[in-house]
Amino acid sequence: MPPRILVIPGSNRTGSFNAALAAAVSVELAQQGADVSRISLIDYPLPIVDENLRNESGIPENAMKLGRQIAAHDGVFLCCPEYNSSIPPLLKNMIDWVSLISRDGDRPFKPWAGRYVALGSASNGKFAGIRGLYHVRSVMMNVGTQVISEQCSVSAAATAFDGSGNLKDERSQSILSSTCRSLLTHCAMATSMRR
Ligand SMILES: Cc1cc2nc3c(=O)[nH]c(=O)nc-3n(C[C@H](O)[C@H](O)[C@H](O)COP(=O)(O)O)c2cc1C
Repeated sequence: MPPRILVIPGSNRTGSFNAALAAAVSVELAQQGADVSRISLIDYPLPIVDENLRNESGIPENAMKLGRQIAAHDGVFLCCPEYNSSIPPLLKNMIDWVSLISRDGDRPFKPWAGRYVALGSASNGKFAGIRGLYHVRSVMMNVGTQVISEQCSVSAAATAFDGSGNLKDERSQSILSSTCRSLLTHCAMATSMRR
């Protein structure tokens, strides 16, 4: 069975560079043989994470839906904008809500636990969002995922993609490709060890 990968852009902005990166990542993963799903967080609106709300009303249904999506895949590819050198609130809020899940009905359920995660970023700036990924990596390790070493960051993102959505720069495409390959290798190894 091919590795199942969920691709999540951490931006809902119209014309998002990270949504463009997520599309390019999805194409590459599919070409490498993965079974790819790409979602948009616009379809999963969530309140700001709030322990009072969690205690009174439980985990929001959209966080449960995201948790189930994450758990149904072997790996996740996060495409992350950089806000003030760090993780943007849309992404952090989603990660936090999913991290609060401990049960689905009467069964224990920790969607992030053991999941392989690859990181990408895109920014129109010259640092390509790399500084933010340092924080995303730390958060993802804290919630129990296995974050792979390889990552891909796209600078000057406004002009980085061609009309078909491919990265114009060969080196960037090669880094994207090796990040995808590493994610799939890690997922395949984990699957074979479970057998
Ligand atoms: C509050 C805020 C802080 C930002 N800080 C940074 C930053 O530190 N580094 C950077 O490269 N871009 C920064 N940006 C610009 C984003 O990279 C830019 O809005 C980018 O388009 C966001 O990703 P998206 O296109 O996927 O929505 C910031 C944007 C906002 C709204």
